[in-house]
Amino acid sequence: MKQVLLISGPNLNLLGEREPEIYGESTLDDYVTRAESVAAEYGYELIHRQYNDEGSIVEEIQLARNTYLGIIINPGALTHYGWSIHDALAAFEGPVIELHLSNPNARESWRHTSVVAPVATGSIIGLGGYGYELAVHALADALK
Ligand code: DQA
Repeated sequence: MKQVLLISGPNLNLLGEREPEIYGESTLDDYVTRAESVAAEYGYELIHRQYNDEGSIVEEIQLARNTYLGIIINPGALTHYGWSIHDALAAFEGPVIELHLSNPNARESWRHTSVVAPVATGSIIGLGGYGYELAVHALADALK
Protein backbone atom coordinates (compact mmCIF):
# COMPACT_ATOMS: atom_id res chain seq x y z
CA MET A 1 0.00 0.00 0.00
CA LYS A 2 1.13 3.55 -0.70
CA GLN A 3 2.32 5.12 2.52
CA VAL A 4 2.45 8.70 3.77
CA LEU A 5 4.11 9.87 6.97
CA LEU A 6 2.75 12.15 9.70
CA ILE A 7 5.40 13.43 12.12
CA SER A 8 4.52 15.09 15.43
CA GLY A 9 7.15 17.03 17.32
CA PRO A 10 7.84 17.78 20.99
CA ASN A 11 5.01 18.00 23.52
CA LEU A 12 2.31 17.05 21.06
CA ASN A 13 2.00 13.77 22.98
CA LEU A 14 0.42 15.93 25.72
CA LEU A 15 -2.44 17.20 23.57
CA GLY A 16 -5.71 16.99 25.45
CA GLU A 17 -3.97 17.97 28.71
CA ARG A 18 -1.64 20.68 27.40
CA GLU A 19 -3.02 24.24 27.19
CA PRO A 20 -6.49 23.12 26.02
CA GLU A 21 -7.53 26.76 25.55
CA ILE A 22 -5.00 26.89 22.69
CA TYR A 23 -4.84 23.33 21.39
CA GLY A 24 -8.29 21.97 22.23
CA GLU A 25 -9.29 18.99 24.32
CA SER A 26 -8.75 16.29 21.74
CA THR A 27 -5.74 14.01 22.06
CA LEU A 28 -3.04 13.43 19.48
CA ASP A 29 -4.62 10.02 18.82
CA ASP A 30 -7.90 11.77 17.97
CA TYR A 31 -6.15 13.97 15.41
CA VAL A 32 -4.20 11.06 13.95
CA THR A 33 -7.42 9.07 13.56
CA ARG A 34 -8.96 11.93 11.59
CA ALA A 35 -5.90 12.06 9.32
CA GLU A 36 -5.87 8.26 8.88
CA SER A 37 -9.47 8.12 7.77
CA VAL A 38 -8.96 10.82 5.11
CA ALA A 39 -5.78 9.05 3.95
CA ALA A 40 -7.77 5.83 3.54
CA GLU A 41 -10.20 7.64 1.21
CA TYR A 42 -7.26 8.21 -1.12
CA GLY A 43 -5.92 4.67 -0.74
CA TYR A 44 -2.98 5.77 1.40
CA GLU A 45 -1.80 4.21 4.62
CA LEU A 46 -0.85 6.98 7.05
CA ILE A 47 1.97 6.14 9.44
CA HIS A 48 2.34 8.38 12.49
CA ARG A 49 5.48 8.98 14.58
CA GLN A 50 5.83 11.36 17.53
CA TYR A 51 9.20 12.44 18.97
CA ASN A 52 10.22 14.85 21.69
CA ASP A 53 13.72 15.39 20.27
CA GLU A 54 15.05 16.91 17.09
CA GLY A 55 17.52 14.14 16.19
CA SER A 56 14.84 11.46 16.03
CA ILE A 57 12.77 13.63 13.72
CA VAL A 58 15.78 14.17 11.43
CA GLU A 59 16.41 10.41 11.34
CA GLU A 60 12.76 9.70 10.54
CA ILE A 61 12.81 12.20 7.67
CA GLN A 62 16.03 10.65 6.32
CA LEU A 63 14.47 7.16 6.42
CA ALA A 64 11.35 8.54 4.74
CA ARG A 65 13.36 9.24 1.60
CA ASN A 66 12.97 5.67 0.40
CA THR A 67 9.74 4.74 2.12
CA TYR A 68 7.04 7.40 1.99
CA LEU A 69 5.43 9.33 -0.85
CA GLY A 70 4.99 12.47 1.21
CA ILE A 71 5.25 13.95 4.69
CA ILE A 72 2.90 15.94 6.91
CA ILE A 73 4.79 17.48 9.80
CA ASN A 74 3.81 19.42 12.89
CA PRO A 75 7.25 20.05 14.38
CA GLY A 76 5.92 21.76 17.54
CA ALA A 77 8.33 24.37 18.89
CA LEU A 78 11.10 23.02 16.63
CA THR A 79 9.21 24.75 13.83
CA HIS A 80 10.77 27.99 14.95
CA TYR A 81 14.45 27.02 15.24
CA GLY A 82 14.96 23.40 14.10
CA TRP A 83 17.28 24.04 11.17
CA SER A 84 18.34 20.40 10.98
CA ILE A 85 14.69 19.56 10.30
CA HIS A 86 14.69 22.19 7.56
CA ASP A 87 17.76 20.57 5.97
CA ALA A 88 16.39 17.03 6.28
CA LEU A 89 13.11 18.07 4.62
CA ALA A 90 15.05 19.84 1.86
CA ALA A 91 16.64 16.47 1.03
CA PHE A 92 13.24 14.73 0.85
CA GLU A 93 12.03 14.57 -2.73
CA GLY A 94 8.26 14.30 -2.13
CA PRO A 95 5.69 16.88 -1.03
CA VAL A 96 5.81 18.23 2.53
CA ILE A 97 2.84 19.78 4.32
CA GLU A 98 3.58 21.89 7.41
CA LEU A 99 0.75 21.67 9.94
CA HIS A 100 -0.13 23.56 13.12
CA LEU A 101 -3.19 23.40 15.31
CA SER A 102 -2.84 27.01 16.42
CA ASN A 103 -1.92 30.03 14.32
CA PRO A 104 1.66 30.75 15.41
CA ASN A 105 1.55 34.14 13.65
CA ALA A 106 -1.14 35.29 16.07
CA ARG A 107 0.93 34.29 19.12
CA GLU A 108 4.28 35.30 20.66
CA SER A 109 6.75 36.89 18.24
CA TRP A 110 9.25 34.00 18.55
CA ARG A 111 6.61 31.76 16.93
CA HIS A 112 6.31 34.00 13.87
CA THR A 113 9.31 32.45 12.14
CA SER A 114 8.98 28.96 10.67
CA VAL A 115 12.21 27.37 9.45
CA VAL A 116 10.09 24.59 7.93
CA ALA A 117 7.86 26.80 5.76
CA PRO A 118 10.58 27.52 3.15
CA VAL A 119 10.96 23.81 2.41
CA ALA A 120 7.26 22.93 2.65
CA THR A 121 4.96 22.53 -0.32
CA GLY A 122 2.42 24.44 1.77
CA SER A 123 1.36 25.18 5.34
CA ILE A 124 -1.95 24.64 7.13
CA ILE A 125 -2.20 26.64 10.35
CA GLY A 126 -4.75 27.76 12.88
CA LEU A 127 -7.59 25.41 11.94
CA GLY A 128 -7.34 23.04 14.89
CA GLY A 129 -8.08 19.35 14.33
CA TYR A 130 -9.67 20.08 10.96
CA GLY A 131 -6.17 20.92 9.78
CA TYR A 132 -5.22 17.25 10.10
CA GLU A 133 -7.89 16.38 7.56
CA LEU A 134 -6.98 19.28 5.28
CA ALA A 135 -3.31 18.36 5.40
CA VAL A 136 -4.06 14.89 4.00
CA HIS A 137 -6.24 16.36 1.25
CA ALA A 138 -3.42 18.79 0.39
CA LEU A 139 -0.83 16.02 0.36
CA ALA A 140 -3.01 13.79 -1.84
CA ASP A 141 -3.52 16.69 -4.24
CA ALA A 142 0.23 17.33 -4.38
CA LEU A 143 0.79 13.64 -5.15
CA LYS A 144 -1.65 13.55 -8.08
C1 DQA B 1 2.23 24.10 17.33
C2 DQA B 1 2.66 25.58 17.42
C3 DQA B 1 4.05 25.72 18.02
O1 DQA B 1 4.40 27.08 18.14
C4 DQA B 1 4.09 25.11 19.39
O2 DQA B 1 5.39 25.16 19.94
C5 DQA B 1 3.56 23.71 19.44
C6 DQA B 1 2.34 23.42 18.68
C7 DQA B 1 0.77 23.96 16.86
O3 DQA B 1 0.40 22.88 16.41
O4 DQA B 1 -0.01 24.92 16.95
O5 DQA B 1 4.07 22.85 20.12
O6 DQA B 1 3.07 23.45 16.39
